[in-house]
Amino acid sequence: MSGPIIRVEGLGKRFTLHHKQRERYTALRDVLSERARSLFRPDKSQASTSDFWALKDLSFDIQAGDRVGIIGRNGAGKSTLLKVLSRIVDPTKGRVTIEGRLASLLEVGTGFHPELSGRENIYLNGAILGMSRKEITAKFDEIVAFADVERFLDTPVKRYSSGMYVRLAFAVAAHLEPEILVVDEVLAVGDAEFQRKCLGKMKEVAMGGRTVLFVSHNMAAIQNLCSTAIYLKQGQLITQGATADVLTAYLKDTGSAARMDLSERPDRQGNGAIRFTGFYLSDEDGRELAAAQSGATVVFNFDIEARSAPLRDVKVAMGIDDQYGQRITHLSNEVAGQVFAQADGMKRLSIRVPRCPLRNGNYTFTLFSSVNGEIADYLLNAGGFHVESGDYFGTGRTPAEDQGTFFVDHSFNLS
Ligand SMILES: Nc1ncnc2c1ncn2[C@@H]1O[C@H](COP(=O)(O)OP(=O)(O)OP(=O)(O)O)[C@@H](O)[C@H]1O
Ligand SMILES: [Mg+2]
Repeated sequence: MSGPIIRVEGLGKRFTLHHKQRERYTALRDVLSERARSLFRPDKSQASTSDFWALKDLSFDIQAGDRVGIIGRNGAGKSTLLKVLSRIVDPTKGRVTIEGRLASLLEVGTGFHPELSGRENIYLNGAILGMSRKEITAKFDEIVAFADVERFLDTPVKRYSSGMYVRLAFAVAAHLEPEILVVDEVLAVGDAEFQRKCLGKMKEVAMGGRTVLFVSHNMAAIQNLCSTAIYLKQGQLITQGATADVLTAYLKDTGSAARMDLSERPDRQGNGAIRFTGFYLSDEDGRELAAAQSGATVVFNFDIEARSAPLRDVKVAMGIDDQYGQRITHLSNEVAGQVFAQADGMKRLSIRVPRCPLRNGNYTFTLFSSVNGEIADYLLNAGGFHVESGDYFGTGRTPAEDQGTFFVDHSFNLS
């Protein structure tokens, strides 16, 4: 076996930011008088610059045939990395070696020539990939059918809707048999049907032994498509390895911790026999998580503080609301059939949810507790947490976004 198909060594990318410095105005009067004054003198605003490293000392290898997911929060440098690999952006430091034909699908606007028609762009892209006219012609119909742009083939692509544009761009990148296919979050653009088609096609390309690099915030898609992953954070490589391990590292990274202090909340009701003082998420082994993930076990942990003893017949409930404030479920020791007859000296309460059925998104929760039949602590909208997408069904498929807020385990029988 030869060397890696992509080798990145000490890669750094610096952007220079230009700021316009102006004074801050606080009153409209000042703004107006400043405007009036500025009529009589040249613009005094000064530009200053500062450097910003979007990628810092990245080194990694990618082997031919790897299907690599690149994950990280907004601004982590994912798109910048793909642009450097695609030679759209030059590295400031370090080296990138690529041993193969690379086709990339980055944001809308790269790769196509706006004045040329769909047909011409297909040929242009094929030529850039080093394909002969004959090879491209052989793929042409498949591309057009996949993109569903037949009627617009001779229209300049600048007249395309963004959906059409992305469909064609994806079809070209995926069908022109590059050795390396690089795709950046394109799936966010098309409709659900097209997204499914794209994922299917990418899987096909990957299974055909070609190398795929895929940036996405959709963890279910990453889990399903990618064998390995890279986690970037603030321009640095945090982990590279098997997808499951990298996803775990990402979810555990408490850089944006879900931990909350509830002790100072004034908007609470109840006699305070016990109070919720803190909240965090963890996995089964008690390791703190920044977010839950669909399909994975999550534990909601609450620090509690007792104001009086004895604590008899303790009841605790957590109501979970979706982002529209709609109550979607209610967890309590009562419905779980667990009686806490006595809770003296307890400091933490945990609620374990195996195979979290919530969809990716933001949720809020309300907390309720009673001791000996009296309300002890009641905190409306006590806090919130985030759920990342995950492969709940283990099939790599999830219902479309508009098909509800949670998953229900099910199976079919045909007889
Ligand atoms: N041309 C540019 N000039 C200046 N700064 C830039 C430029 N392109 C990107 N950046 C900055 O570099 C950082 C990394 O951006 P990048 O687009 O690579 O992030 P990302 O991981 O793709 O984020 P997202 O998940 O939001 O797509 C960001 O802080 C961004 O503002
Ligand atoms: Mg990006």
